[in-house]
Amino acid sequence: MKIIKLKEIDSTHKFAMRMIESNSVFECGIIANVQTNGVGRCERKWESAPGNLYASIIKKIPLDKDICRISLATACAVHETVKNLLDLEKKDYLYLHWPNDVYYKNKKLSGILLAVVDDWIVISIGVNVHSVSIPTAVSLDSIVGGFSVSAQQLFTSILEVLSGWLDLHRVNDFSNVREYWLRNIVGLNSEVIVKNGNDSLSGIIRGIDNFGRLILETNSQRLYISSGDMFMNEQKIVVDYGEKK
Ligand code: BTN
Repeated sequence: MKIIKLKEIDSTHKFAMRMIESNSVFECGIIANVQTNGVGRCERKWESAPGNLYASIIKKIPLDKDICRISLATACAVHETVKNLLDLEKKDYLYLHWPNDVYYKNKKLSGILLAVVDDWIVISIGVNVHSVSIPTAVSLDSIVGGFSVSAQQLFTSILEVLSGWLDLHRVNDFSNVREYWLRNIVGLNSEVIVKNGNDSLSGIIRGIDNFGRLILETNSQRLYISSGDMFMNEQKIVVDYGEKK
């Protein structure tokens, strides 16, 4: 896959979207050393200091492809790639956090943003490699204490692992992705709050269904949720992040 390397850009995600909109699009990866206007999910800002991983992947997909499943498969790829780089005792604290984040203990290490235009998908990935100033986030550098892999090397590894996950997903109809999620998700069978816009739902996570949706059991029903933000019940955070088998 061709990789477009940029020193500085507003956002690799926006760059990819512009490639699609201007009809100058092809399958590729885009990586930038720094972003001046990084975006996260729900139109939030994404802190983008130099040296972290800011990348987007453009791929052609069948029109009926389920974005929810691709989102979960991408999170598996980031989780697995990072896990391969951590020492044994640290691996157990790396979690998948619905909808598609990777957390180390109770802090966010990586976020993923997806967009579909016609038969193109933009898969954008941010990983805090060297620095992050937000108290709820963590960097690989601070986990490892001197992380020697560059953002570019990390992206190459993620691309390799992701292509395996997307192939598996195509062949095995999502079961591998689902099983990986269920082994690594934080909060399974715990009480959480899921927010989507102004809606807020509280319930217990019962898993991920075959379409990649979160199964949330509320007092009155089972809901199948495809987008939103998940928050752990405050009192349970220490237990849920601290005692992984
Ligand atoms: C999230 O909110 O968790 C998703 C964050 C996605 C950040 C990445 S960094 C590379 C790409 N460019 C952007 O502006 N955002 C995505």
